[in-house]
Amino acid sequence: TIIPPFKNEPPVNFDLPENEKRMHEALEKVYKEFGREYDIVIGGKHYKTEKKIRSINPSKFDEVVGIVNSATEELADLAVQEAWKAYETWSRTPAWKRAEYLLKAAQLIRERKFEFDAWLVYEVGKNWIEADADVSEAIDFLEFYAREMLRYASEQPIVRIPGEYNELRYIPLGVGAIIPPWNFPLAILVGMTSAAIVTGNTVVLKPASDSPVIAAKFFEVMREVGLPDGVINFLPGSGALAGEFLVKHPKVRFISFTGSKDVGLRIHELAAKPQPGQIWIKRTVLEMGGKDAVVVDETADLDAAAEGIVVSAFGYQGQKCSAGSRAIVVKDVYDIVIEKVLERMKKIKMGDVRYKENWLGPVINKSSMEKIMAYIEIGKNEGQLIWGGNSREDLGGYFIEPTIFKDVAWNARIAQEEIFGPLLAFIKAEDFDDALRIANSTEYGLTGSLYSRDRTRIERAKEEFHVGNLYFNRKCTGALVGVHPFGGFNMSGTDSKAGGRDYLGLFLQAKVWSEKI
Ligand code: NAD
Ligand code: ALA
Repeated sequence: TIIPPFKNEPPVNFDLPENEKRMHEALEKVYKEFGREYDIVIGGKHYKTEKKIRSINPSKFDEVVGIVNSATEELADLAVQEAWKAYETWSRTPAWKRAEYLLKAAQLIRERKFEFDAWLVYEVGKNWIEADADVSEAIDFLEFYAREMLRYASEQPIVRIPGEYNELRYIPLGVGAIIPPWNFPLAILVGMTSAAIVTGNTVVLKPASDSPVIAAKFFEVMREVGLPDGVINFLPGSGALAGEFLVKHPKVRFISFTGSKDVGLRIHELAAKPQPGQIWIKRTVLEMGGKDAVVVDETADLDAAAEGIVVSAFGYQGQKCSAGSRAIVVKDVYDIVIEKVLERMKKIKMGDVRYKENWLGPVINKSSMEKIMAYIEIGKNEGQLIWGGNSREDLGGYFIEPTIFKDVAWNARIAQEEIFGPLLAFIKAEDFDDALRIANSTEYGLTGSLYSRDRTRIERAKEEFHVGNLYFNRKCTGALVGVHPFGGFNMSGTDSKAGGRDYLGLFLQAKVWSEKI
C-alpha cells in the first residue's frame, strides 16, 4: 500500500450545528461511563491493587471520571520483565508492520474523535476547542511517526568505497519508561509512546495521576488494533513510587519524560547513577517547563498583539509549557497594549467546560490551585493587580479568575518562575533591546513570540531570542506536528523536537556493518 503524504488532522468546527450535536451526544455517552475502574495491564494480563487513584473532573470535583489501580514496585518490576519478553519478537517485527499499528490506531481515534474530545473535557478541564486540538495532535503524532519510521528503516546515505559493502541501520534500544504529563494527556502521551514502540522498543507506560483514564482509553485502542501483549504495559501509579522505581531500574534502557523541571532534573540525576547489574548508560529525553514571553514593540499591530497575549497566556488556563506568561512591552505602547488586553478580558467566560460557551475552565487540582493562589499573593507585592485575582471554588470546580499584574520587574518571582496557571505579568521595557534582554532573562527557553513590523528586529530575534520555538506576529502556543517540531533550550529540556524529523532517532541506535567484497 502507498501511504499518502502526512497532513495535519483538521480541527472540528463546533460552530456547525451537526458537530455541536455530536459533541453533546459524546459528552452524554462518556458521562455514562464515569466511575468505571481500569486495570493495570502487564504482558496482556490484568491486575488490581489495593491502592486506587480516583480521577476527578476539575470542573466539578464531586464527579469521579474513573478509577485506576496504583502500581506497586512488584508490578513495576514485572512490567519491565514482560516488556523485555515482548521485545524479543517486537524488535524484529518489520518496521512497516509496526507502523501499521500506529496508522490503524490513528484511524480508530479519528472515528471516535468526539468521544476522545469529551474525555479530555471531563478529565482535565479543556474547553471543546482545546480538547479537540489535543486529540488532533495525538492523531498527527501517530500518522507522522508511522511515516518517519519508514524513512528511518530505509537505506541510509553513507559514502561508498570500492572493495567494501557498508550499511548503516537504526536498531531499537530496549525497554523504556514513558512518563508523560497531564496537560496534553492524550497528545504527549501518544507521541512519546508511539515513537518508542514504532522504533521497535517496548515500554512501561506510567501515565500522570491526574489523567489516567484518557491514558487507559488510548491503551484500549492499541489493544483493539491488535498490538501484541507486552509491547505497551499500562502501569498507572504515583510518580514518587512507580516513576522513581522505573527510572532506577537496572533493566530500563531509556526514560522518556515530559513534565516539570524539578522532576525532570531528579530523573536526570537518578538515571545517571548505574545500578548493580546495569550494563548501559540510560538514555533520557527530558522535556520540561517554560516561562515564555510575548514581546511587543512600538511598530507592532497592537490589536493582533493584544489578542496573541490573551490567547497565549490564558489558553487552557495557562497550563501549557508554551504559555505566554510574560508580556514584555516597550514603554511607548505599554499602556495602550494593556488597555486592549483588558478589553478582551471582559469577553472571557469562565466555568464548567462541558458547556461550549465557557472558554476558560478550571485548573487541574487542589494543590495546583493552592500553588497558583500563593503566586497571586506573591504578585501583589511584586506588581499591580489589574484583573482577576480570586479563586472561585464556589462554582464547584478548581476555578481561578484569569489574573493580570502590571509593572512587574523582570526579575520578580512571578516573572521568573513557572506558575502553570492563568496568571500574566506585564513587564515594561525601555526599548526593543531591553525587551529582548528581559525575554532571555529566565532559566528557561521554550517558546516566545515577537510582535513587530520591523524586519531588522525580526532578523535579530532569530539570532538572539533564545528559545526552541520562536513565533513572529502570532501566539506562542499551538505548535503543529511536522510543521513546528517542538522542544526547548536551557531548563526547558533536551530540545527533543517532538513532531520533527530528529525525534525517532532518540529511540534508536545506529549499527554499521562492513563487508569485504
Ligand atoms: P510533573 O513533573 O509533576 O509530572 C510529570 C510526570 O512525572 C507524571 O507522570 C508524574 O507522575 C511523574 N513523576 C512525578 N514525580 C516523579 C518522580 N519522582 N520520578 C519519576 N516520575 C515522576 O509534571 P506535570 O504537572 O504532569 O506537568 C506539567 C509540567 O510539564 C509543566 O512544568 C510543563 O511546563 C511541563 N510540560 C513540558 C512540555 C514540553 O514539551 N517541554 C510539554 C508539556 C508539559
Ligand atoms: N506543543 C504545545 C504547544 O505548542 C505545548 O502549545
